[in-house]
Amino acid sequence: MRNRAWKVAVVAVSISCFAILGIAFAQAKKVGGGDIKFTPKGADPVVFSHETHVSQHKAKCTDCHTKIFPMKKQDLKMTKEAHGQDKHCGVCHNGKKAFGQTTDADCAKCHKKG
Ligand code: HEC
Ligand code: HEC
Ligand code: HEC
Repeated sequence: MRNRAWKVAVVAVSISCFAILGIAFAQAKKVGGGDIKFTPKGADPVVFSHETHVSQHKAKCTDCHTKIFPMKKQDLKMTKEAHGQDKHCGVCHNGKKAFGQTTDADCAKCHKKG
């Protein structure tokens, strides 16, 4: 009897561990708003990754939302002139907090064919 109760307890604990892990993985699949793709005219597309910014670069939701960006996919209306200014991506991508937006070597870090 005691032996059986013990087994039931072990099984119950294992099941809840798997359930918790499952939830963790399901959430890890999509961080924040997921991948956001911009397709500006006259430049290659840009994919913004919530995953890398939040998980790797340790940006908090409130670093960007809603001071810099709305929590809704829309045209940023980010012009070529806005590159290198303290606006949009340039709030961090200024060559100090993160790679800049003004040298030729920078362009392809964001603008990728495909
Ligand atoms: C480094 C900046 C940055 C951080 C940090 C960030 N986001 Fe975002 N988020 C963006 C950008 C850029 C967009 C797209 C805005 C646009 O299209 O105008 C966006 C869009 C979204 C959207 C809308 C997606 C859609 O398809 O409409 C949601 C939801 C969202 N973010 C949630 C979050 C949450 C939750 C966090 C924190 C875990 C977070 N974001 C952190 C930059 C950021
Ligand atoms: C809150 C600050 C912040 C904002 C705003 C921000 N980034 Fe970043 N981003 C970073 C940091 C920090 C890194 C990593 C440092 C580096 O690579 O110089 C990074 C890295 C990247 C990378 C390299 C690949 C990767 O995902 O790690 C790309 C591409 C990128 N950002 C695109 C964007 C775009 C596009 C926007 C605007 C829609 C944006 N970022 C806005 C902080 C920011
Ligand atoms: C940190 C990421 C990042 C870097 C680096 C970057 N861009 Fe961009 N660029 C963007 C994003 C995001 C958009 C468009 C957002 C939208 O569709 O509203 C954009 C839009 C553009 C546009 C279209 C502007 C318009 O009026 O529609 C041009 C042209 C452009 N970039 C050229 C460049 C050049 C040239 C470089 C290198 C000197 C560069 N970009 C570097 C993120 C970047």
